[in-house]
Amino acid sequence: TPEDRDTLLRAMQLISDQYFEILDSGRSDDAKIARDYLAKRGIDDENRKRFQIGFAPDEWSFAVDLLAKHQFSGDVAQAAGIASAKKSGNGHVDMFRGRLMFPIHDLQNRPIALGGRIIPAIGDRHGDKAGPKYINGRETLLFRKSHQLYGLQLARDAIRRNGEVLVMEGYTDVVAARQAGVESAVAVLGTALGEQHVKILKRFAQRVVLVLDGDNAGQTRADQVLELFVGADVDLRVLTLPEGSDPADYLESAGRESFDRLVTDAPDALDHKLSRLTEGIDFTRDTHAVTTAVDTMLKIVAKAPPSLRVDQLLVRLSRSFELKTERLERRLDALREE
Ligand code: CTP
Ligand code: MN
Ligand code: MN
Ligand code: MN
Ligand code: MN
Repeated sequence: TPEDRDTLLRAMQLISDQYFEILDSGRSDDAKIARDYLAKRGIDDENRKRFQIGFAPDEWSFAVDLLAKHQFSGDVAQAAGIASAKKSGNGHVDMFRGRLMFPIHDLQNRPIALGGRIIPAIGDRHGDKAGPKYINGRETLLFRKSHQLYGLQLARDAIRRNGEVLVMEGYTDVVAARQAGVESAVAVLGTALGEQHVKILKRFAQRVVLVLDGDNAGQTRADQVLELFVGADVDLRVLTLPEGSDPADYLESAGRESFDRLVTDAPDALDHKLSRLTEGIDFTRDTHAVTTAVDTMLKIVAKAPPSLRVDQLLVRLSRSFELKTERLERRLDALREE
């Protein structure tokens, strides 16, 4: 039945294995196109297998039919996040058609959801009906994106060893990182890093480095995540990659050593925020801008309990803007009481 987790797990394993097999064998013309696309992106066989990357045929009901053959109903396919109910009439249609498939695994390495990326040569056939670049599995009994991190089942040991986890934005970033030898990378799944993710990561690492794409979406994510972390007892660093590149791009163009250096030098999240706020301000002239920047920082910090980090930030603010720490402390106390 669609309410049974075990049924959904079995359906998911079946379809994930089948998508993998199709890409692996490369027998159909489309599977060859998908393999070429992967090769063009520089993803090798070892990592295609490691991440169980697959291909969903460009058909309306490939998955639904395969599942039916194995006694899984359309309702099960829908509950597993593999199919949707037809808009008109009865029956179900596949969620993923003609896409490169990234299974999302739980910590026991069982596939619990799928994400699918469009393949240009195949998507182009469908013109403006090709759909978005990525289709992410919707929430199911097995899959809650606020709790799940792509690649954690593979990265867990390295994260423990390093005491550090790199949180990236995309599937392909994690795969490219792994291929470059960066073993402690995971990705959020079409959502911002949230409280539940942090809770899970804290079991494995003390330090979280958010590695963000050098685009507007990446910047927005940096801002969103900060408030969350000020209160959490985690060492959060923020690395924003150069304009126009994400971890996969950067590793390809600049190489592993250069990437590692960026990670090592990644500023503390509060520092990162402070430098973003003060970019281009002339402190000696624009006292109003200084007040605004300082107040923005203090408002963020006011949400957190007193800590060494907060004290350090106050000292830093006082140095940067030539303000007495007592004044900053008073303002912070006032904000805390609000
Ligand atoms: N994303 C999404 N829907 C989109 C675009 C992006 O859900 N239309 C999510 C995906 O999880 C994606 C992440 O946001 O992995 C980051 O987006 P982006 O940087 O655009 O994609 P990349 O991961 O860099 O993918 P690629 O390199 O294949 O373009
Ligand atoms: Mn498998
Ligand atoms: Mn991006
Ligand atoms: Mn990319
Ligand atoms: Mn990207």
